[in-house]
Amino acid sequence: MTTSKDIIEWTEEQKQEMRDKLLAWYDKEKRLLPWRENKDPYRIWVSEIMLQQTQVVTVIPYFHRFMEWFPTIKDLAEADEDKLLKAWEGLGYYSRVRNMQSAAQTMVEKFDGQMPNNVKDLLSLKGIGPYTAGAIASIAFDLPEPAVDGNVMRVYSRLFCIEDDIADPKSRKIFEQKVRETISHERPGDFNQALMDLGATICTPTSPKIEIDPLRDLYEAHKQNRLEEFPVKKKKVKTVHLYYLGLSIQNKKGEYLLEKRLAEGLLANMWTFPLVEVDKKHYQEMEKEWLGYQEDQKETTLFDFVAEDSGLMKGAFLEALETSQSDVVWLKQPLGDVKHVFSHRKWHILLGNGFLKEETELMLKENQSWVDPKDFPNLAFPKPQQKMISLIEELRNK
Ligand code: ADE
Repeated sequence: MTTSKDIIEWTEEQKQEMRDKLLAWYDKEKRLLPWRENKDPYRIWVSEIMLQQTQVVTVIPYFHRFMEWFPTIKDLAEADEDKLLKAWEGLGYYSRVRNMQSAAQTMVEKFDGQMPNNVKDLLSLKGIGPYTAGAIASIAFDLPEPAVDGNVMRVYSRLFCIEDDIADPKSRKIFEQKVRETISHERPGDFNQALMDLGATICTPTSPKIEIDPLRDLYEAHKQNRLEEFPVKKKKVKTVHLYYLGLSIQNKKGEYLLEKRLAEGLLANMWTFPLVEVDKKHYQEMEKEWLGYQEDQKETTLFDFVAEDSGLMKGAFLEALETSQSDVVWLKQPLGDVKHVFSHRKWHILLGNGFLKEETELMLKENQSWVDPKDFPNLAFPKPQQKMISLIEELRNK
């Protein structure tokens, strides 16, 4: 993978050439948009937040109405909630407009009802992140700040063959650095908006119009005939959900049945309560039953209905315990549930609360032992098992 150290460095002349070409193109081709009529920071802020939701053509009528209804920051700060939500209806993500109102209230309280004119203060406002702060700072206040969105990452990844994954938030810094090195200090707002327009209309994700691109001679990716390899965007790996019954079983001495995991594979050699994998349908049924349990329903087998319903389940249970589940009394109320994410796997564990019947000795598997909870601190437990222990401890301290 490319790291910022390997990325091509341009000479000052190349940087100047890029700025000149980009701004000359913008002067000729820029889209006439209502928030470009002046440099009012409030209008620029509103447009930037709306443009995070949807495309320019959709935003325009929303933008006009918003400005009519809330012409100043103070009007927005004092707006009635129903009207505020109405103004956003159809754009989605209502939290964005709620955050805007909260930011407007902060501006009234702390900034004299004005948008702050520097990145640090802009970032202190609700809903304003690095992109929006950079856009407002450059467009409204002429500060040479990057405003890196997907369009800008696409253009720069092609200019410099940047192979970092644009879906990874850690990559943003690399692109910001490249924009800082190239941005026009005379016209930073136009420079950033030119990049946005270029990315939206010419340097597009598929079939970029390289022949009419003002920067065509500057794309390293084009020189290497690799234009369409950029940007690099890794597919999100889908999370796999796994469902388990965790078996907390205590004997009459108060020890718990634990087992050591295999010496190989995930979480090798660590300790766990026995786990029985179940399918999602059964897990959810059990969860529902559990949530519906009454405190006074005691001493019936927690897993009965699953075991009755599913031969597979019975087999898995036997495999986990090498015993009949009738040797264990399960309280109807499980100890609780534990969820844990291991990179792309999410474990859902419902932890049953079982007690070995007085007269029974369990046949233990080779890797199973009875462990006094006082010895738990000496054993290595993976994170979900630590959460299970916390559940047990919580209950004991009640
Ligand atoms: N997308 C996000 N901000 C924009 C702007 N200021 N102009 C055009 N498109 C944009």
